[in-house]
Amino acid sequence: MNQNTKDLSSSGAKTFYIHTYGCQMNVRDSELVTNNLLAHGYTLSDSEENADIIIINSCSVRGKAEDKAIGKARLLCARRRSPDVVVGLMGCMAQRFGEDIFEQVRGLSFAVGTRAESRIPLILKRLEMGEDNISETGNFDDDTSGSNYVAPLGEVTETRISSFVTILLGCDRRCTYCIVPDVRGKEHSRQPAEIIAEIRALADSGISEITLLGQSVMNYGKRDFKWSEDIPSPMGFTEPLPRLFELIVANIPEITRIRFTSSHPTGVTDELISAMSRIPQLCRHLHLPLQSGSDRILKLMRRGYDTATYLDALKRLREALPDLAVTTDIIVGFPGETEEDFEATRKVMEEAQFDNSFIFKYSPRPGTPAAELESGVTEEEKMRRNRILLEDQDRRGLAINNRSIGTVTEVLAEGPSLRNPKRWSGRNSQNKIVLFEPGSRISVGDTVLVRITRARPQTLFGDLVEKSEI
Ligand code: SAH
Ligand code: SF4
Ligand code: F3S
Repeated sequence: MNQNTKDLSSSGAKTFYIHTYGCQMNVRDSELVTNNLLAHGYTLSDSEENADIIIINSCSVRGKAEDKAIGKARLLCARRRSPDVVVGLMGCMAQRFGEDIFEQVRGLSFAVGTRAESRIPLILKRLEMGEDNISETGNFDDDTSGSNYVAPLGEVTETRISSFVTILLGCDRRCTYCIVPDVRGKEHSRQPAEIIAEIRALADSGISEITLLGQSVMNYGKRDFKWSEDIPSPMGFTEPLPRLFELIVANIPEITRIRFTSSHPTGVTDELISAMSRIPQLCRHLHLPLQSGSDRILKLMRRGYDTATYLDALKRLREALPDLAVTTDIIVGFPGETEEDFEATRKVMEEAQFDNSFIFKYSPRPGTPAAELESGVTEEEKMRRNRILLEDQDRRGLAINNRSIGTVTEVLAEGPSLRNPKRWSGRNSQNKIVLFEPGSRISVGDTVLVRITRARPQTLFGDLVEKSEI
């Protein structure tokens, strides 16, 4: 894979550990760095304490996320068991701060931003040669910057059946509260052939479910390249994302489940809905962030839709896919959010009947337009609104899940549940966690049928059944 592989490994099998914060994209980036380091002769450490190289993959989306990573980095630097232990930062915070991070975290060895992570092996070599405080950030200025994103193909290191695959880098939308476009750069769609090769490698190491990632995943391929005539679409799709689905299904039969996230309400086209109903591998779940149910706030957020457009997208989806589960993200306490705006959000959430919602307290991000606005919402008030929406969601989630009691659902078995290893855990097509008593011959990755007997707001419980018993 790399000409330097032998040279670097001869320096001794150093061990590394990556601590990951943030979203699914960070999870995947950590895996790519893992594969890259393994290919360069480093080995995985079983624990953070014993590792020679500790890397924190960081998130900048909210102030709290940054505090966590900084706290962790400071702790690791202060407690390093020898001066030779390398402590590095990668991901969104490293991109945001650049070399200023060394003032915040004393003793940090390196900081490497997004789309620059493939340089980590070289940075480690430079550290060995005596350099310190090395900072490298991704350059998003030119259109080829996506090519800095290297996806080393390799085995997944854990026994897993599911993996993320980033298909769309960056984000051009610039919602007024959001730091992601600054830290992830311009939107860039990866080439289909490259994506197929990555999924092929995942399938070869036992992965049967993939989640395609992009900040606005439906923008995939819309601008960066034309789908040439030589990539046929037997189903007659013209939009790039449905065509990518088709390509995956045609080329990698081992992939039995395909998910994609995050969706943007303006991207819910008839063709996407048609793809979801016609391609059986596409799961019956959509994460469709609403952010607010107040049109006034949505405008201030510059989200590009109003609640009527959102609810219309939902209606069209559910008409075509009655068993679709929909989850969402909501921000409470956006600057100037009144009680009336908040109640509007509650109302739309109730109307939308979300299966699950992720509620975030607004956090001003330096340099974003919303950070310039007068807050007007106290921390206590944000907490109250957060709590109310969570309570609403619990009630709603339980009622929705209770309705599935007695039905049979198909579950991809992931293995013993962490809380109670006597039970097994898996997910159904709707992305709900299903817990069940394993039979005698069940293996990780099996698709099993479970009859639901009990429900909690975010979990279903049930018993294994045979096809003949339905
Ligand atoms: N690209 C995705 C969102 C990625 S960030 C999308 O548009 O759907 C994940 C979530 O974090 C967002 O949906 C939003 O709800 C939340 N978020 C982003 N910036 C935030 C901020 N400044 N304060 C609080 N929550 C925020
Ligand atoms: Fe942030 Fe908006 Fe882009 Fe999502 S679409 S990453 S919320 S700017
Ligand atoms: Fe956080 Fe970066 Fe993801 S800011 S949410 S890790 S894109």
